[in-house]
Amino acid sequence: MCVDLKEHWENIYSIRKPEEVSWYQPYPKVSMDIILSLNLSLRAAIIDVGGGDAFLADVLLEKGFSNLSVLDISQNVIQRAKHRMGDRSQSVNWINEDIREWQPVGQYDVWHDRAVLHFLRKPEEINKYVQTAAAALKKDGILVIGTFSEDGPQKCSGLEVQQYSVNRMEETFSAQFNRISHFTHIHVTPNKKEQEFLFMLLQRK
Ligand SMILES: C[S@@+](CC[C@H](N)C(=O)[O-])C[C@H]1O[C@@H](n2cnc3c(N)ncnc32)[C@H](O)[C@@H]1O
Repeated sequence: MCVDLKEHWENIYSIRKPEEVSWYQPYPKVSMDIILSLNLSLRAAIIDVGGGDAFLADVLLEKGFSNLSVLDISQNVIQRAKHRMGDRSQSVNWINEDIREWQPVGQYDVWHDRAVLHFLRKPEEINKYVQTAAAALKKDGILVIGTFSEDGPQKCSGLEVQQYSVNRMEETFSAQFNRISHFTHIHVTPNKKEQEFLFMLLQRK
């Protein structure tokens, strides 16, 4: 595991409360709208990559989804999410890994990533991410990616990010995925700042 990045995130989650981070949202509406629009079986295998302590797992469990995984580089945030969820956390498969190094074992129907891919800026890391997502998804599986758009912030959590245009996102994934749809969304942070995200749905070829 690359210690510097892990340390960064462990530190963030030891000094910031859940509602103090810019990506906080009390209900993951955009992600839920997308996932529910897919008309999945409740047994669909869904992974939230860099899920942190977002409420996506809670809300999906409430809707009856039973095969959920959350991957995050930070052990602190996984502990925090488990503590918040109590016994319900036992219904989630928690994976404490760096996505840049993770080797998936199973295959998923949906890979969800809100505000994680954009931290990868080296071409080889982005390429590895695409290969990992392609290996982790079943044929026809769905990739849901939300990154900062070209009009979004240049930094998140003190780290520089790679902003995405529709073309850049499509080019990044086109060898192994077909684009289904995309849209921009303005996230309002707890400090009332607006951040433009680009969300794209893609399907594994
Ligand atoms: C901006 S937060 C977004 C959290 C969550 N997706 C949400 O929407 O609330 C980014 C998350 O990605 C995790 N992360 C960052 N780099 C990662 C990496 N290389 N591998 C796995 N997780 C990572 C961080 O620990 C953090 O929880």
